[in-house]
Amino acid sequence: MPSSSARSAMRFRRLRLQNWRNFVEIDVELQGRAFLVGANASGKSNLLDVFRFLRDVASSRGGFEHAVWSRGGVSRIRSLAASRKPSVEIFIAVGDDENEWEYLLRFGQDGKENPVVEAEQVRRQGKLILNRPNAADKGDGELLTQTHLEQIAANGKFRDLAEFLSSVSYLHVVPQSIRETGILPMRANDHYGSDLIERIASTHAQTRKARLSRIREALKVAVPQLAGLELDTDTGGVPHLWGKYENWRARGVWQNEQDFSDGTLRLLGLLWSLLEPGGPLLLEEPEISLHPGIIEHVPQMLAQMQLRSGRQTLISTHSPELLRDEGIGLDEVLVLEPGEKGTGVRMAADIPEISVLVEGGIPLGDVVLPETRPANASQLPFYARSR
Ligand SMILES: Nc1ncnc2c1ncn2[C@@H]1O[C@H](COP(=O)(O)OP(=O)(O)OP(=O)(O)O)[C@@H](O)[C@H]1O
Ligand SMILES: [Mg+2]
Repeated sequence: MPSSSARSAMRFRRLRLQNWRNFVEIDVELQGRAFLVGANASGKSNLLDVFRFLRDVASSRGGFEHAVWSRGGVSRIRSLAASRKPSVEIFIAVGDDENEWEYLLRFGQDGKENPVVEAEQVRRQGKLILNRPNAADKGDGELLTQTHLEQIAANGKFRDLAEFLSSVSYLHVVPQSIRETGILPMRANDHYGSDLIERIASTHAQTRKARLSRIREALKVAVPQLAGLELDTDTGGVPHLWGKYENWRARGVWQNEQDFSDGTLRLLGLLWSLLEPGGPLLLEEPEISLHPGIIEHVPQMLAQMQLRSGRQTLISTHSPELLRDEGIGLDEVLVLEPGEKGTGVRMAADIPEISVLVEGGIPLGDVVLPETRPANASQLPFYARSR
């Protein structure tokens, strides 16, 4: 078994897709941190969803069939931009300093629209250690309704890869979901935040205290009136987050998450997730509800978290402020460019219009976002004016 620090440094290095949603064919290199930039509906969320899909496949709780059906079936996943009825193919290269893994999954559907594995391959240090369909699959077609990745009995030779894929987490905090904790039934592993308070509550008391105190310190910058942050259960046993606000009375007033602002809740969810250990972290538009002055510091917070945990972060964003951080490299920005044959993805470093200006001293955020602006955006006000 590799040490946990070796595993936490493992990351996605390359992604190749064929016929996944609005991508007909892409091949991208991924750094420890990647910012996905593109117009609305260019496919940022669809790209992040590939990593969630692999996590779902690798999870023994549902596996391949569940991962496909929970997305509406093969016909919903397969690109509409492809001309015939081709297969969907996902290829990833994953690695740390010692290990290099490659995983390929190609799938389609049978006559009854059930998802079918057409090819599954695993390579370790370049050596093929799984190649399906194999003799057993040819004897029993039923076997191709499952991947070996999801089966503990079959993935022994690449368990580290399966565990790495299962460790992916997705964060798209919706403040109202957090507020509804205790009102609506809990949904396990809910990425919209309804499990946030439960996650905080189930953390060991000492760790929780230390993390909440760090978060309060960080939050003080964004929400200066917040003087305290604690977790406590109500008389019904439901945990709540309590914040002490100093602006109302001299001794302060305690309010719980029901009264926290949207930005406070989103920042709280982001900071808590950054402090949690785990695998790659997928962040959807972390800038939502935050003041530009705060957004500018999000990349620094991510960088500090990465220094400690080595967690890879893949972030979708529309924010120039987020990309204004000087530490962001041209190889960390992936630009999604919708076209007639599906969306293309290029590294900002490979786009001369961007790299020349950035090397000339213009902040990345001020160059990249205008580059992804829809061609007819200036006509939007006319639609608002007409009846
Ligand atoms: N199977 C498919 N084939 C082709 N296109 C698809 C398929 N499934 C979804 N799409 C398209 O993908 C687009 C949505 O992409 P996505 O949600 O990833 O965009 P986004 O870049 O995250 O946008 P936003 O910035 O608004 O969040 C929609 O236009 C949808 O029609
Ligand atoms: Mg999106």
